[in-house]
Amino acid sequence: MNKISFLFACILLIAISSSSAFGQNRQSLIPQPVERKDLPGTFSFTSKTKVIIPSENPEIRETAEIFAGQLASLTGNKLLITSDKAKRSIELRLNNADNSRLGKEGYSIRVSTLNVIISANSPAGLFYGAQTFLQLVPPVKNSSVTIPCTEITDYPRFGWRGLMLDVSRHFFTKDEVKRFIDQMVKYKYNVFHWHLTDDNGWRVEIKAYPKLTSVGAWSVARTGRYGSVYFIPEESGELATYGGFYTQNVIREIVEYAAARFVTIVPEVDVPAHSRAAIAAYPEISCSGKPTTVSAGTSNGIGENVFCVGNEDNFKMLDVIFGELASLFPGEYIHIGGDEANREFWKGCPKCRQRMKEENLKNLPELQSYFTQRVSKILQSKGKKLIGWDEILEGGLAPDATVMSWRGMEGAIAAAKAGHHSVMTPTQFCYLDYLQGEKNIERVSFGYLRAKRVYEFEPVPEGVEAGYILGGQGNVWTEFIPNYRRVEYMTWPRALILAEVLWSPKGKRNWDEFVSRMEDHFLRFDQAEVNYSTSIYDPEIAMVKTEKGEFRITFTPEIKGLDIYYTFDCTFPDKFSAKYNGKPIQTPRGSSEIWAISYRSGKPIGRLLVITFEELKARM
Ligand code: ACM
Ligand code: ZN
Repeated sequence: MNKISFLFACILLIAISSSSAFGQNRQSLIPQPVERKDLPGTFSFTSKTKVIIPSENPEIRETAEIFAGQLASLTGNKLLITSDKAKRSIELRLNNADNSRLGKEGYSIRVSTLNVIISANSPAGLFYGAQTFLQLVPPVKNSSVTIPCTEITDYPRFGWRGLMLDVSRHFFTKDEVKRFIDQMVKYKYNVFHWHLTDDNGWRVEIKAYPKLTSVGAWSVARTGRYGSVYFIPEESGELATYGGFYTQNVIREIVEYAAARFVTIVPEVDVPAHSRAAIAAYPEISCSGKPTTVSAGTSNGIGENVFCVGNEDNFKMLDVIFGELASLFPGEYIHIGGDEANREFWKGCPKCRQRMKEENLKNLPELQSYFTQRVSKILQSKGKKLIGWDEILEGGLAPDATVMSWRGMEGAIAAAKAGHHSVMTPTQFCYLDYLQGEKNIERVSFGYLRAKRVYEFEPVPEGVEAGYILGGQGNVWTEFIPNYRRVEYMTWPRALILAEVLWSPKGKRNWDEFVSRMEDHFLRFDQAEVNYSTSIYDPEIAMVKTEKGEFRITFTPEIKGLDIYYTFDCTFPDKFSAKYNGKPIQTPRGSSEIWAISYRSGKPIGRLLVITFEELKARM
């Protein structure tokens, strides 16, 4: 072999070994564990390897079955579960005496050349240990898997690690909800907040009020650019054919499915507002009693969508509804919404005014607080605790209420002052329905929340005692999310980031290092056919004005290592076009738009951005 071909062979060898190195050297764990120490040697397993569980423990058997199923999806190997001793096994071992460091949800893993032992104080801990073990395994179908030896000790920072899915604005099927839960638990989320009712559909069967779903679950169908198509009103005689709901049997099935994966479901019935679907079914619950329709779009404040607080029958109805909910959902909390009530509807209502007089309520926020306290008593009578959006603070918080702080961190700060707990879901870090990249690429949604910003989230507000913060949650509102693929696209990868924020120790965060782990998980999404956004690769663009008053264009990539190429002549940019050098770019005379694309290591990686100067100026 001559020198050149030897060199070529070496390069080839490096290329081959680095492409197969995934899973050998790059076992990127998300969330980052508390402690990990890599050890010499490797452990190999095949389809003959057994999963060992303690005998006679049905809960751990179920955990082991789920784990074996997940492992089979990854590698193609379905392992046998047994309580008999076996060599070279993967063992789920319950600690005889509690390891206080691990707590309720912690675990340890020891991968040695001989076997794997996952141990924990509880089945939940074993489940999380198993989820971490799955991330040690490369996402490649393979009859024999080899992983490096390692030792991990891990436990969560917060007990409430949630994702919320809005199934009212668009309905998602039972199987889609299960798929959502499947994906959550891989990243150790343990709360599924299910936004079941809103103006656009009532999704939970209530036996005593069948019209809530026979009428309230269906709107007229609209397809198009979500956010604008909504406002096309029904034509006379147009049938409401779009929607769906979950029967109580399906709800029970999903509750059980979630529980087996250590996920608690927090159901939300959003009252007193966001209730147009309920009013479409039973118009007498509104102040005016006027007939209405289920909204085919975002109708916050458009159309009457609030329960009358003066109507005593409404509390009887809510007692029955929350009673049925309480019997369906075994968790400790029920979410009552409470957000964005257009209180103007109460202002002109004689029954509401009468209520205010009788109860000595000075203003409309106090009227809402009265409503919330009544609902809180209803929940208490069913053995449940109330949680609501931070508007429930206005006019006075109900005793024992927990606040979901969404309009920034202030809700949590006020709640803590009053001695109440909070769950953190501030829009600026946790609203996963917001655009995650350049608007001209991502196109439709409300606000703007880039991945890097999620990584900057600190759930405990300054000055608040950590004990008041139960944890945090990402919210997937679906006004702009018409199908399940889009749900996944908006959820991932930002929910990966939030998972690390909520589980991993504070102060361990490093964005550049995280990005490399996150990119490894993109391969897992690919293998599992989970949709996700690659917007971290897209250029973020801005127009700036110099001191001399001249307009310039800048790019601020979210991650390192990208090369941005651009044109001003409306031709597709590639790596032979002008390259952004970090300095503001002067726009050439005659130009009116810029086209740009990111490359990495000589290959295109981002999507094409096309934007006019006019639009950039409007954003300034
Ligand atoms: C909310 O986003 N309206 C809680
Ligand atoms: Zn009223």
